Amino acid sequence: MFDTVSEADFKSAMKNLAAGVTLITSVSNAQRGGMTATAVCSLSAAPAQLVVCVNRQNSTHQMIVESRKFCVNVLAADQSEVAQRFSNHLARAERFESGPWSMLKTGAPVLMDALVAFDCELGEAIESGTHSIFVGRVVDVHAREQSAPLLYYRSGYAGISAHAG
Ligand SMILES: Cc1cc2nc3c(=O)[nH]c(=O)nc-3n(C[C@H](O)[C@H](O)[C@H](O)COP(=O)(O)O)c2cc1C
Repeated sequence: MFDTVSEADFKSAMKNLAAGVTLITSVSNAQRGGMTATAVCSLSAAPAQLVVCVNRQNSTHQMIVESRKFCVNVLAADQSEVAQRFSNHLARAERFESGPWSMLKTGAPVLMDALVAFDCELGEAIESGTHSIFVGRVVDVHAREQSAPLLYYRSGYAGISAHAG
C-alpha cells in the first residue's frame, strides 16, 4: 500500500475544488447544533439519499448520532456571515441567534431562507479516520425562490461570477 500524501499537500490541492457551502444542523435533548460543511454530496435519487462527512470532534457529530436526524441547509451567496458563525467554535452560543429558523418533518433546525434544505433521517454511519460518513435519507425538502449559491474556493467565500462555456 502507498503512503498518503501529507496533510499540507492534500489541503493545498483541495483548495482547487470549489464547493457549495452548507450548514449541517441537528437537535438532541432539545439542544440545537450546527456546523458549516462542504463535504456534502448526492448519493442516490431513488431512494433519495445524500452523504455528509463530519469530523467526530465536532459538537454536531454527537447530536446526529444520538438523534439520528439532521438537516443540510444549502447557503445562498448572501449568507457568508452565517457560514462564518457556524464554523467558529467561539461563536457556538450565537449560531442560532438570527434566523429565520424552523423545522420540517424530523425536527432538525431548518434555515428557512437557505437556498434549499434537505431534512434527513440518519441511515448508515461509516467511520473513516477522523470523520464519520453519514448517509441521510431525505424525508423532506424546502426551497426558497431561485438565488445564486455561496461557494468556498481557495480558502475564501465566493459567488458564481461567470458560467463556463
Ligand atoms: C468552508 C468550510 C467547510 C467546512 N466543511 C466541513 C465539513 O465538510 N465537515 C466537517 O466536519 N467540518 C467542516 N468544517 C469545519 C466546521 O465547520 C468547524 O470545525 C465547526 O466549528 C465545527 O463545529 P463545532 O465548533 O460546534 O464543533 C468546515 C469549515 C469551513 C469554514
